[in-house]
Amino acid sequence: MILARENLLNIKQIQRELMALGDRRMANNVTQMADYYQLCQLAVNEIGTKLDNLDADYAIHYDHNPIHHMEERMKDPRSLQGKLRRKGLAPSITSVYNHIFDLGGIRVVTNYLNDVYTVANNLIAQSDVELLKRKDYIKHPKPSGYRSLHLVVTVPVFQASGVKIAPVEVQIRTVGMDMWASLEHKLRYKTSVSTEQVAHYGKQLHDYADELTDIEENMQAIFYQLDGKMALPETVDTFDAPDVDEADTTTKEA
Ligand code: GTP
Ligand code: MG
Repeated sequence: MILARENLLNIKQIQRELMALGDRRMANNVTQMADYYQLCQLAVNEIGTKLDNLDADYAIHYDHNPIHHMEERMKDPRSLQGKLRRKGLAPSITSVYNHIFDLGGIRVVTNYLNDVYTVANNLIAQSDVELLKRKDYIKHPKPSGYRSLHLVVTVPVFQASGVKIAPVEVQIRTVGMDMWASLEHKLRYKTSVSTEQVAHYGKQLHDYADELTDIEENMQAIFYQLDGKMALPETVDTFDAPDVDEADTTTKEA
């Protein structure tokens, strides 16, 4: 089941938030922005349904369900504005169309390491899902120790006015990686934590990330020993390829 953490803001709320931040230029784009938010929310619904259907398929037809749980969220306007500023982008709808692919996001938390790639492959294999970007921070962890598979996929959204394509960021990680990321996120973003504490605990967390990798690999090996076989059909592993980062625009209309 997908747990929805946030609801879509309505157009008036977005306008109020932006005006409160004193960002008149962005406020003028509010209708377009709200439309695009809406479109991305619908894309999240589409991808969410696909993942829900996979979840049901795994549960019904296989001994092992790779999916532990899923969450979805829409980026709030304040964090969107912060991201545009961080990336040195103008606060315009064009910047959002061309450079922001995580307005809508889904996190899939899996049981084991290989489950991450099973879910990713089964999602990308669907003919209306297109892989726009892929960053494999499991094979290439971040300097912090962060591990997760990040995909940006696009999906068609059918509207009264026609079909539009919109992006969704899908983060796929194990329960262990998810627990690690939550704590590390707290360390990084809690303002009450001193620089010394960040360095100290950051180093500790980096070490734990390595230990977690070992533990997860060993536990997966035990799982396969007990299970006797791969419980799910082998999928073509498209993830040995280099990371994909060829996104330029996601607003093409089909
Ligand atoms: P953005 O445009 O910043 O999203 O760039 P990106 O998508 O290239 O960034 P990235 O691939 O680093 O993914 C950003 C998201 O991944 C963040 O919003 C976090 O949820 C997560 N993330 C990335 N790095 C870390 C990390 O070091 N620690 C934690 N806890 N989370 C991370
Ligand atoms: Mg991102």
